[in-house]
This record gives sequence, structure tokens and C-alpha cells, in this order.
Amino acid sequence: MKPIKIGILGAGSFARAFVPLFKAHPQVRGVSIAEILPDRRRIESARAAVAETYGTLEELLASDCDAVAIFTQRWMHARQAIAALKAGKHVYSSVPAAVSAEDLAELVETVKATGLTYMLGETSYYYPSAIFCREMWRQGKFGRFVYGEGEYMHDMSHGFYEAYKYSGGADWKRTAGVPPMFYPTHTMSMIVSVTGARMTHVSCLGQVDQSGDGVFGKGLNQWDNEFSNETALFRTSDGGSARINEFRRVGHWGGRSVRLSLFGTEGCFEEQPEGDVWVNRSREVTPVSDLLRCSPSANDLSDLGDKQEDGTQHDFHSGMAPVHPVWRLPRELVHMPTGHFGSHLFLVDDFVRACTSNTLPPNHVWAAARYNLPGLVAHESAKRGGELVPVPDLGGPPEGSALLEDALAKLAPATPAWTLPKPAYTGKSWW
Ligand SMILES: NC(=O)c1ccc[n+]([C@@H]2O[C@H](COP(=O)([O-])OP(=O)(O)OC[C@H]3O[C@@H](n4cnc5c(N)ncnc54)[C@H](O)[C@@H]3O)[C@@H](O)[C@H]2O)c1
Repeated sequence: MKPIKIGILGAGSFARAFVPLFKAHPQVRGVSIAEILPDRRRIESARAAVAETYGTLEELLASDCDAVAIFTQRWMHARQAIAALKAGKHVYSSVPAAVSAEDLAELVETVKATGLTYMLGETSYYYPSAIFCREMWRQGKFGRFVYGEGEYMHDMSHGFYEAYKYSGGADWKRTAGVPPMFYPTHTMSMIVSVTGARMTHVSCLGQVDQSGDGVFGKGLNQWDNEFSNETALFRTSDGGSARINEFRRVGHWGGRSVRLSLFGTEGCFEEQPEGDVWVNRSREVTPVSDLLRCSPSANDLSDLGDKQEDGTQHDFHSGMAPVHPVWRLPRELVHMPTGHFGSHLFLVDDFVRACTSNTLPPNHVWAAARYNLPGLVAHESAKRGGELVPVPDLGGPPEGSALLEDALAKLAPATPAWTLPKPAYTGKSWW
């Protein structure tokens, strides 16, 4: 395995949490940073002690990095990923993969043509609830899929105004009004990564924004988007259905803003702000919050407060939950600060291992497309008043691809790191 060199593209507030992790990974031989804004380039490279810096993507692509990790604004990723792949670089992309169906299809084709590693940095994939449900699914505890609910409830007042102003300049409202369903991968991945089925049809309703803050509305943003909340109902390829909420105006507490609930013919999981529960057809009720709650750890950055010094939200902190497969992390990473419910360390490790071992990471480009395209089509449906629209499929990985998950399974401890606790209630005793 040859160590790789990572070029970070975009040194905004999210990249800040990842540069130290890439630097610390034992299979990374170097890290460089490309950032257009000179002040930000200087400050972030000094903060992370990265000596090699560039001003543009083109300069980064001309350098000797093996991979590009994209942390630019959300509507830029696909074109930059395609350029990087064509320049012979592996690509890690922050979410979403693309904001147009055409770009997404071209991205998939480019990955196929180049044979390089592409991975979507989908944080929700490593949220404790998703990990728990994938394991229960693998054990057959859900039975057949019936219905799933994924929701991302992030009110604009919870850090989004600051985030858009931070890089958007005077014109920040032009991009802050991005359709909620153009950022669907957190929610969609929660369901799709558990069941393996894909979304085949969608009917979506949009809520016309009432706030009058000049962000959402006809003519106000580059997508001419007037919806600040969108709710979509999907048919899934395994005969079930799923409801996805992408809300940007909602009086929700903002803590566990990405949530999953999944219902099967044998068992169900429900995630709520203060309590997660596994129930089954035998009327057993098992609270599982202790398995899913991330510990405040020595690595927890929450004592730094909600806001960073530049005004952006400091919401990238958290320790690990008992369900996290900490055993697969290189020891150099285990004690590093993580974030987004423990996910950062796993994303970095997945990407570096996939590149160096030539295996497919779980969030490869075909998975990314199945998390992303349903949202783009959902927005089209919303614009047509909820018309039922088919969701095209961009296919799956080549037959016989070596999977990173298989390689990691060999590292698993002989005794499982966690098991489902005994039910707290049975029968109707709960009531
Ligand atoms: N949970 C999650 O998965 C999660 C959380 C936060 C952010 N994100 C994603 O991460 C990405 C970054 O978010 P952020 O808040 O740090 O954004 P940001 O606006 O703070 O930073 C983006 C940076 O990229 C730079 N940039 C843009 N184009 C460039 C180019 N061609 N060359 C060099 N630099 C360039 C900008 O100048 C800016 O500094 C976004 O796409 C966002 O969607 C994901």
C-alpha cells in the first residue's frame, strides 16, 4: 500500500475539522491546501501547519497530490470532482455530490472511465442510528422493509445565515436560497444505506417561504426557488415507501437535526430527540439510547461554545457512541477530535483506505447518486405541484468490485462490540 498525498480544496469552516485528520492518517504522506481567498488560505494553513498552499483548483491539480478532498460550497462539487478525476486524482467530496442530474450522470461516467476512487463524505452514514439499523438489518431483525422516515431539520437561524454570509459576500442570498431537496443525501442515505433498495418514484410538496427575509422566492436566488421546506413521499424498489423531510424553516431544537425511523415487517426503529427505541412484532420494547448516544469525550470541542471566532457555527463536535466501530480506526486517529456524531474519523479512514487498497468505499459514486438524484427529482415534482415522477437510476458498481467493507470485516473483534440489550418492556406492560 502506497501512502497518498491529499490536496484540500476550500479552506472554509468545515475543512477546518478535516485537515488535521487527513494529516494524522498513517497512510497519508502529505497534505496541501487550495483556497481562493488569500486571507483564509493564510490563516487556515497556519492553523493546521500546512506549508504547501495554492490559490486555485487548477494549481492544485497541477501539483503532485494523489487525491483531492473537496470542501467548497455545496453547488460546486460535481464540476470540481469531474475536473479532478480527469486530472488523474482520486476524489473525496463533501455533500452533496451534485445539484443537477446532468452533472451527476457525468460524474458517474467519469468515475467509470477513469477507474479512480470517488467517495462522498456523507456524515449521516456513520451516525449511530444508521449504524445500528444497518446491523439490525444485516441480522434480519427488521424483516422486509415497509416504510422509512428521514428528516433533516435545520432552521436558517441555526447557523445557516452565518455560513452563507461567510463565503457568499454581498450576494449571499443568491446561493442561500438553494432548494432544500438539493441537499438530500443526509436523509436519503439513512434509508438507502440500510435497505440497499433505491427510490424509484417521488411526489414532493414544497412550502412557499413566508419569512420575507429575501432568501427564498422567485427571482431571489440562482435556482429561482421559493420553497424553504420540502416533503417527499417515495416508492422504493423493494416495494416499500419512504418519507423525506428537508426543512429550513422549522422550530426544531437543532441538536439531532438528522433523524431516521425505519419500519419492517418484523421490527422497527424510531429515533426521537430524547429517546431511541427498538420494537418488534413480539411486542418487545427495547430503549437503545445508551447504545446510540455519543459520549462527550476528552476530544469534545463543545466547551469552545456554539460559535467559532469568525462567527460560523461550531457544531462539529461529539465523541463516539458504543455502536461506532472504533476498532477499525488506525490508532493515530482514535483520539483525534471528531464531529457530526463521530463520523469524521470514519470518513477520513474510509477514503484513505479505499485509495490505498484499491477497494470501493461504501459511499462510492453509485451510492452517492442513489442518495442524491431522488432529491433533485423531488424538487422537480414539487415545482409541478407534487406530480408523481419516476427517479432514474445511474446503476451500481461493476460486478466483482473489491469492497472496503469486506476488508474491514476481517479486522472485527471476535466478540461483537455491542449487542441489543434485553427488552425493557414486553407485552402491553409499558402502558
Ligand atoms: N454534515 C456535513 O456533511 C456537512 C456539514 C457542513 C458542511 N458541509 C459541506 O461542506 C462544504 C463546505 O462547507 P463550509 O461551511 O466549510 O463552506 P465555506 O463556504 O465555509 O467554505 C468553502 C471554501 O471553499 C473556497 N473555494 C470555493 N471554490 C474554490 C476553488 N475553486 N478553489 C479554492 N477554494 C475555493 C471558498 O473560498 C471557501 O473558503 C459544503 O459543501 C457543505 O455542504 C457538509
